[in-house]
Amino acid sequence: MRTEDFTGGEAAPLTLSERVIAWQRTHGRHGLPWQGTRDPYRVWLSEIMLQQTQVSTVLAYYERFLARFPDVATLAAAPLDDVLALWSGLGYYSRARNLHRCAQAVMERHGGRFPPSSEALAALPGIGRSTAAAIAAFCFGERAAILDGNVKRVLTRALGFEQDLSQASAERELWAQATALLPRQGIETYTQGLMDLGATVCTLRRPSCLLCPLQHGCVGREQGDPTRYPVKTRRLTRGRRRHALLWLRQGDRLWLTQRPDSGVWASLWSLPEYENVDGLVDRLSVLPGEAELLPAVEHALTHFDWTLQPWRLELPAGDESARAAAEALLPPGRWVTLEEALQMGLPAPVRRLLEREGG
Ligand code: ADE
Repeated sequence: MRTEDFTGGEAAPLTLSERVIAWQRTHGRHGLPWQGTRDPYRVWLSEIMLQQTQVSTVLAYYERFLARFPDVATLAAAPLDDVLALWSGLGYYSRARNLHRCAQAVMERHGGRFPPSSEALAALPGIGRSTAAAIAAFCFGERAAILDGNVKRVLTRALGFEQDLSQASAERELWAQATALLPRQGIETYTQGLMDLGATVCTLRRPSCLLCPLQHGCVGREQGDPTRYPVKTRRLTRGRRRHALLWLRQGDRLWLTQRPDSGVWASLWSLPEYENVDGLVDRLSVLPGEAELLPAVEHALTHFDWTLQPWRLELPAGDESARAAAEALLPPGRWVTLEEALQMGLPAPVRRLLEREGG
């Protein structure tokens, strides 16, 4: 979309921002729990949860999280494990760790109040430029551009933005254009409108152009294939990994270990994981009992598809020496009941496995 399509002429068509705003009022999303407030804590929490996660999924998590951590001081003072437990299932756990660190930074650096500008917000842990702009627009009415994945899609299609977004210079140029398109008034509605358009109309594979307020003048549509945008030459190549999981039980307890504080599922509690089945079998061979093969768990992460092959081994109840032998082989952790395990911050697929096979 050429910017002038929205600005000039006598029968002046509405500008891009005017159309987005008018559309948001009638067709955008309203009444979401984080929309009726200018409280930066609530808005920040919703924006972090909504990164890479759909509104329908976020709703229940958001309410539970706020019930347990009603304000930034409570969140900052909580143990990380409690935060991860409530995040369990939302995925992308670095968000939860950064959330916790950000709450602490707000307490320490800003006396418990979120700073009222996108620039200062973007200096906090886990708040990128786009999220900072969204919070500042919603809470403080600041005119700052957002540019998350959905909004990049809307704008590159509308503008026919040909540059390759794997290049930093193209990304900078798009930020500049997004900033130039900001309305003088109504930044909150405009910001929400761009998000809503990206999520509900200008979708990745099958955009509903006939419902779009930007359909007239949208370069992507006029060219016949809006899905050509955004242009990105360096595509993610997905890998595949296969690991083994050990579900060791004795009596009514199982062994959980806390994952390292970086990497996939960082800091979450899980079953011990082994690079390959051989590594696991080596360990099991010195323990009494026969391992049972359970159905594999498939999990898609951003960069790879992951197959986790669980093996369950039951140690004889009350056999102290078997327990001691097992503990010598296991990564650090603890024995917990199934019920306790399900209260902890577990990766969603591991939680499902324990729920499904745990009886
Ligand atoms: N995605 C990111 N932020 C959002 C918001 N405030 N509303 C709906 N979807 C979003």
